Amino acid sequence: MIEYDLVIKNGLICTASDIYPADIAIANGKVCCIAKNIDENLANEVIDAEGGIITPGGIDAHVHVDEPMKLLGDVADTMEDATMSAVAGGTTTVIAFASQDTSLKGPKALSESVGKAIALYGKQTLYCDYALHLIIAKLEKDGLAGRDILGEQLETLYADHSVTSLKLFMTYPGLQMSDYNILNTMYNTRKNGFTTMIHAENGDMVKWMIDSLEEQGLTEPYYHGVSRPTIVEGEATNRAVTLARTMDTPILFVHVSSPQAVDVIRKAQTDGLKVYAETCPQYVLLSDMDTKCHGNHDDKFIGAKNICSPPLREEECQKRIWQGMNDGSFTIVSSDHCPYLYSDKGQGKHNAFKNGKNGDFKYIPNGMPGVSTRMPLLFDYGCLRGNLRSMMKFVEINCTNPAKLYGCYPQKGALLPGSSDADLVIWYPNDIKTYKNRPKTITNALLQHACDYTPFEGFEIKNWPRYTIVHGRIVYKEGMIIRDNAKGSYLPRSKSSLCTPDGDWLTEWRPIYAK
Ligand code: URP
Ligand code: ZN
Ligand code: ZN
Ligand code: ZN
Repeated sequence: MIEYDLVIKNGLICTASDIYPADIAIANGKVCCIAKNIDENLANEVIDAEGGIITPGGIDAHVHVDEPMKLLGDVADTMEDATMSAVAGGTTTVIAFASQDTSLKGPKALSESVGKAIALYGKQTLYCDYALHLIIAKLEKDGLAGRDILGEQLETLYADHSVTSLKLFMTYPGLQMSDYNILNTMYNTRKNGFTTMIHAENGDMVKWMIDSLEEQGLTEPYYHGVSRPTIVEGEATNRAVTLARTMDTPILFVHVSSPQAVDVIRKAQTDGLKVYAETCPQYVLLSDMDTKCHGNHDDKFIGAKNICSPPLREEECQKRIWQGMNDGSFTIVSSDHCPYLYSDKGQGKHNAFKNGKNGDFKYIPNGMPGVSTRMPLLFDYGCLRGNLRSMMKFVEINCTNPAKLYGCYPQKGALLPGSSDADLVIWYPNDIKTYKNRPKTITNALLQHACDYTPFEGFEIKNWPRYTIVHGRIVYKEGMIIRDNAKGSYLPRSKSSLCTPDGDWLTEWRPIYAK
C-alpha cells in the first residue's frame, strides 16, 4: 500500500534546534512523518540520502526582481528567473518587493500596487513559492492626514493580499523619507502589525559627500563606498531606533554592513527593544577593494559590479558581521539579490560614462545578484570554515527566522510533520562517489539567473545542493533544473510572531514619555 509520495532515507536532518539521523516521509506536498526506518515500500519514490545533510529550504527574504513599477530601474531577472536561480542554490521561498504606484490614490492604492505584481507573476512559471513586501515610496498626503490614509491603505493591503511587511528608505533621491513620515509609517505598521523594514543610510550626508567627491573629480566606482562611510549607516540606524522607541514599535534593519550600526542594534536589543537586523553574504565575503580596478585589466569600470548600498566595507569590518550572526544581533541573512546586467551598470545606459572616461559612480545602479549563492556560501564559508558557530545557526538565520519574522512559520522554514511544506535541501559537504558533478568553484553559468555576472565568480566551494525539493517535488537535481515540477505560487502571510508590539498594541499610540 502506498502512503507517501516520497521518502528520504538515511540522511542527517538539521533544523534550527536539532541535528539527528532520521527518515522523512512526504505526502501531498507536506512533511508528514519523521522517524527511524520508515518503510520504503510505502513510498512512490525513494531518495537514499546516505552521507547527506537535510535542511529546510532557504528563505531569501530580500530579493528584487522585475516588477510593474520598476522603481529601482530594470533588473535582469523575472520572478521566473529568480525562483529558478533560488532553487539551484537551495532556496525554496523568496520574498520580493512590489513598489507603491504613486499615481494611485485612496484606500485601495497600495493593494492595487501589489495586485499588479501578483498578476504579472501569475503568468510566469515559478520554481518555488514567493511572497511580497511593499516598498513605500511616498505618503499620499502631508501631515497627520498622510498617516491616516496610510492606515486605511495598509488595512486594505492586508485584507486583499495578506502582505504583512513594508520597506521604507532613509536615503535615495525620490524615496528618502523624512523623520516625520517615518513616524507616520511606524504609527501604522504598529497599528496593523506589519513588519517595518528600514534601509538606514543618512541620505543628506550621502548627497553632500557625492557632491564633494564629484567636485574633486573622484568619480570612479570605488568612491561610491567613500561617499557613504560606516558612520552614515550608524547615524541613520541610531535615529531609526530612536523613532521606533518613541513610537514603541518593532523594527528590522535590512542589509546592515556597518560595525557602528551593529553596535546600535546590539545596544537596542540589550535595552529590550524589538529591534531585528538582516545582513548579507557580500558583507562578510567581499570588501571595498572589490570595487577597485587594481589597474591590472582593461575594464576600468569592473568595480561597478560590486556597487551596492550600503556599500562593501573594509575587510576588517567582516569580523563584526560574522560575530553579529553568531551572537544573535542579526536575526536573518538575505541576499539582497538585485541583478542589474553588468552591461547596464557599466556601458552608459545609466549615464555612467557621461562625466569622464572612468564614468561616475553616482549613475551606477546599486545592487548585485545573489539569490543562488547565499545558502551555499553561508554553508561553506560559515559552517565548514568555522565562521558560523553551528549548522543549526545556519538553518536558524537562513531558513527559520525569516519565516518567523515574516509570518510564514511553520509552513516554511521548518520540518514539522503535519505543519511544514515539504521544502528541503539535501547537501553533501563530504565527498561521495555518486554526486559526480558537484561544483568545485562558483561560475555564473551554475547560477541559472538572467544576470551576466556573479560577484562570487571563481570562489571555491566545497558544498552545493544536490537535491532541492519544493512541495515534495524535486525541482533541482545535480545541476539540472526540472521544469515539469515547477509549481510555485503566491504565498499569503500572517502577521509576524516577532514583530508584534507588547501589550494592547492594536489600540492607538499614546506618548510613551507621558505614561
Ligand atoms: O544596493 C542595493 N542594496 N540595491 C537594492 C536596493 C536596496 O536598497 O535594497
Ligand atoms: Zn535597501
Ligand atoms: Zn582594472
Ligand atoms: Zn534590496
